[in-house]
Amino acid sequence: MSNSSDSPERRKFLSGVVATIQAAIGGTLGVILGGSILSPGFARRNENWLDAGRLADLADEIPTPVTLRVARQDGYSQVVERQVVFLVKSGSDVKALSSTCTHLGCRVSWQPDTQQLLCPCHGGVYDKAGAVVDGPPPEPLAVLPTRVEGSQVMVQV
Ligand code: FES
Repeated sequence: MSNSSDSPERRKFLSGVVATIQAAIGGTLGVILGGSILSPGFARRNENWLDAGRLADLADEIPTPVTLRVARQDGYSQVVERQVVFLVKSGSDVKALSSTCTHLGCRVSWQPDTQQLLCPCHGGVYDKAGAVVDGPPPEPLAVLPTRVEGSQVMVQV
């Protein structure tokens, strides 16, 4: 008497199911790996330099807010975000500070009367170099790479 679980039809059906599952897993891995290699934004992710304005337009030692339009690849579509940075010029040198508070991410603003950067959310205070002076921020403001090309300040985001 033959056992129905050993029938040739059942074996053929089960091997077809296994082959289908293997093909689906292989196809998914191919899409993931191929997408990360062929994605247009993959190679440029760390080389996004943006023009942040003229060095001559910046006052010495005064953090000046500049809004940058940052284009990012999100899969195969492009997303444009606005990012505010503070440019701080010292002679011919310039530093770019993130405006994002390191506590919970609110946007800091320059206070000319106290010569400090203030976070409105929980009272975090930074000096003009981005160091924490007071409040809950655990770290200084992030410093973004900069370079001067001719008369223009370039910031890497
Ligand atoms: S988010 Fe800036 S102090 Fe809390």
